Amino acid sequence: MSNTIIRVENLSKKYIIGHQKEGVHRYKALRDVIADGAKSVSRKFLKPSDKKISNPAREEFWALKDISFEIKQGDRVGIIGRNGAGKSTLLKILSRITEPTTGRICIKGRVASLLEVGTGFHPELTGRENIYLNGAILGMSKAEIKNKFDEIIAFAEVEKFLDTPVKRYSSGMYVRLAFAVAAHLEPEVLIVDEVLAVGDLHFQKKCLGKMEEVGKEGRTVIFVSHNISAIEALCQRGILLQHGNLCIDSNVQTAIQRYLEEATNNTNATLLEHRRDRKGSGKAKITHFRVLDFLKSEVTYLQSGNDYYLEIKYANTTGKSLKNIIVGIAFKDEYYNRILLLKNKFTGSSITLDKISGDILCFVENLPLANGLYSVALSLEDFSNELIDQIQDASTITVDGGNFFGTGSYGEPMFCKILMKAQWVTN
Ligand SMILES: Nc1ncnc2c1ncn2[C@@H]1O[C@H](COP(=O)(O)OP(=O)(O)OP(=O)(O)O)[C@@H](O)[C@H]1O
Ligand SMILES: [Mg+2]
Repeated sequence: MSNTIIRVENLSKKYIIGHQKEGVHRYKALRDVIADGAKSVSRKFLKPSDKKISNPAREEFWALKDISFEIKQGDRVGIIGRNGAGKSTLLKILSRITEPTTGRICIKGRVASLLEVGTGFHPELTGRENIYLNGAILGMSKAEIKNKFDEIIAFAEVEKFLDTPVKRYSSGMYVRLAFAVAAHLEPEVLIVDEVLAVGDLHFQKKCLGKMEEVGKEGRTVIFVSHNISAIEALCQRGILLQHGNLCIDSNVQTAIQRYLEEATNNTNATLLEHRRDRKGSGKAKITHFRVLDFLKSEVTYLQSGNDYYLEIKYANTTGKSLKNIIVGIAFKDEYYNRILLLKNKFTGSSITLDKISGDILCFVENLPLANGLYSVALSLEDFSNELIDQIQDASTITVDGGNFFGTGSYGEPMFCKILMKAQWVTN
């Protein structure tokens, strides 16, 4: 009991959402969070932005449902789950940026968090001022912060911009500094949401190394990522969230295994038109995805080296045709690494959406994917890259068999996912 540092009891979080405006509200909420960065870190001015929506078509939505768990000092916990499972919501509650609807949390010690939108910094203050502000909020003296100062700026690599307001930082610089502050100011609990999605490989590696160090020092780390290899490397414990429910709380390997099984079994179950874990303005919605063979018959699995039509059905809610649409189809492997991205803009193909509904067909020749399971993400953007609709894990496809090389070889799908024919000679 004594070394329990976080206790979460019957935690639930309800959002009120308006029909058709889901995407818009979500962005609004994120913007509010950024604007409230300084307030939120002080943890005194709680302002849940979701209370203000006065849309008559209101609907309650439970992002977290009756979650309970305990975390002991020194635990390194990975929180995993599909898009919309409630991971960020849970971290925001633990960081006291938003309040739970019911249930309670109890945290012993100082929490430093780096959330997906880089909350915690005051945009008008400089990098230097933000470091001191964050330190003070964590209860450190000026001298203590001063001691850590050089380490922080060396880690963040933002020396030249120390006296520039952080609102002028690029997103990469912002996240580098935010991470450096969170990790170096010696909090008892370090909470990190998906930081590895931003920043280059060099920085990602540095972050992982630093988090490992923090963990080894006996401090507690809570880490959300879709990068399963990073979770596996860093965490010893895994919590899997599923539609707001706590599905499993176990050692990290078991949780990852369940997550991967879930990813392969569940994605096709909900019709895309009813999926709510989507982003975008909603002007048009993807309602259906399937794969057809070259004779346009639907297939249940694919084979390397064959030709296919990828078919997206959509509904247009604007009543007007939408021109110059960018359609994206991304394939991720079981570790959530994105390995193939198809977009009509790459090939200069123009796409207009019908004013009511229609199909988009993408023809691919000589499928270069090795045998395995892939998650498909779908997106529609307009010509200014504004997101209209996006669904991660829209479908899972299986590639099984095929004759890509014409020799009967499948390559080595355990080690490599993309196939390519090569000529071999010796001189
Ligand atoms: N401010 C908000 N207002 C309304 N709904 C919200 C708000 N924030 C989150 N949601 C909804 O709550 C659900 C959980 O969202 P959350 O961001 O916690 O998911 P997540 O697991 O972090 O997903 P991802 O992997 O995409 O980051 C989603 O369906 C989301 O649309
Ligand atoms: Mg999230």
